[in-house]
Amino acid sequence: MTSIRLAPMSGERFPMAAERLAWAAKKWEKYRGRDIIPLWIADMDFPSAPAIRGALAAHVAHGNYGYTLAPRTLVGELAAYYAQHYAWSIEPDWIVWLPGLVVGLNLAVKTCCQPGESVLSFSPVYPPFLGAAPLQGCRTCVVPLALDETAAQQGILLYRVDFDRLAAALQPDTRLLLLCHPHNPVGSLFSADELAGLADFCRANDLLVCSDEVHCDLILDGTTAHVPFARVLAASAADEIARSITLHGPGKVFNLAGLGIAWAIIPDPALRRRFRSARQRLVPEACCFGYTALQAALRDGDPWRQELLATLRDRRDQVSAALDAMHLAHTHPAATYLTWIDCRRLAARVGSVAAWFEEHGVGLSDGDEFGAPGFLRLNFATDHALLAEALRRMAAAVAALDEDG
Ligand SMILES: Cc1ncc(COP(=O)(O)O)c(C=O)c1O
Repeated sequence: MTSIRLAPMSGERFPMAAERLAWAAKKWEKYRGRDIIPLWIADMDFPSAPAIRGALAAHVAHGNYGYTLAPRTLVGELAAYYAQHYAWSIEPDWIVWLPGLVVGLNLAVKTCCQPGESVLSFSPVYPPFLGAAPLQGCRTCVVPLALDETAAQQGILLYRVDFDRLAAALQPDTRLLLLCHPHNPVGSLFSADELAGLADFCRANDLLVCSDEVHCDLILDGTTAHVPFARVLAASAADEIARSITLHGPGKVFNLAGLGIAWAIIPDPALRRRFRSARQRLVPEACCFGYTALQAALRDGDPWRQELLATLRDRRDQVSAALDAMHLAHTHPAATYLTWIDCRRLAARVGSVAAWFEEHGVGLSDGDEFGAPGFLRLNFATDHALLAEALRRMAAAVAALDEDG
């Protein structure tokens, strides 16, 4: 087996950060000392934007990292960003700073439900969506997204909301819908009809909605505008926005997951008060460097983001071509840097397909954790040559299995 090269590539528009293991990157630590290329957890192998690194360097040089509030101008800059990028006018006092989005998902359940009540979540989905309700003493009602099996036969995975399944999953004690928008792991954008249908469903059943929009700045074509779900709610009647909690942060798009910076947007004052009180003494403030990084991202990050999207489009296409050649059906994601792969035919032969690919030198996320056994998620936000090597290993393993009959 070829061993993994950790040096940064020269000549790449987005070179890999050198030796992520030196800084204990979770993605790389999992396979330390083993010849397994990590394509699992959702962060990127690229350094963040130069503007962000420069602002952080200045903050580090200042030398005092005591208790820190969001800079006074930050909420205004964030509101201006929302107006410009998502045509959504938010009020500064709707924002509740958080050290991460997953904590926000859990707080949303704690805020919106009494113990024992239930929460709706689509599947497959990023695992904390399935776990948030049980962790807060509530129940998850899982609504499988509908997979177009005909398209899957032809190699492409397409998912859509099945409103009959949604209605069937609803219980008398359901209070909350957890929405992943754009959707991880399938990388799709909900259509305008689906979003309007979901807004109608929430209104008809008096549900609150927590919409995690962390991937909304990673719509890969660089031109499609993200539509916040709260805006969809407000389109039917202005006060419908009161049922929304929107979670967002720069962690995915600017590769800042380690900096602990995110926020909830909660327009309704009573819901916001309950959310704030649910976090008391349990949830720390956002990190001082997170605010600095966010401010730099809002001011100067967009040209870098556009270049990132171009790189990610190339990587996505590289993955799609390789998976086509392996005859594995997969998504061609509109958003995120994650490809979702149907490995059910392999799983029928090898059992855990994630463990089997690890044995063949590639570390992927196991679909089982997303509520979809037999599927895998591949993170393509890495170096071109490293990705090519991982895909070569996968292809060799699949070919050998196929030859075996
Ligand atoms: C949809 C979604 N929400 C939240 C997160 C994690 O957010 P945080 O690290 O801020 O808790 C991820 C990470 O992959 C994600 O995909």
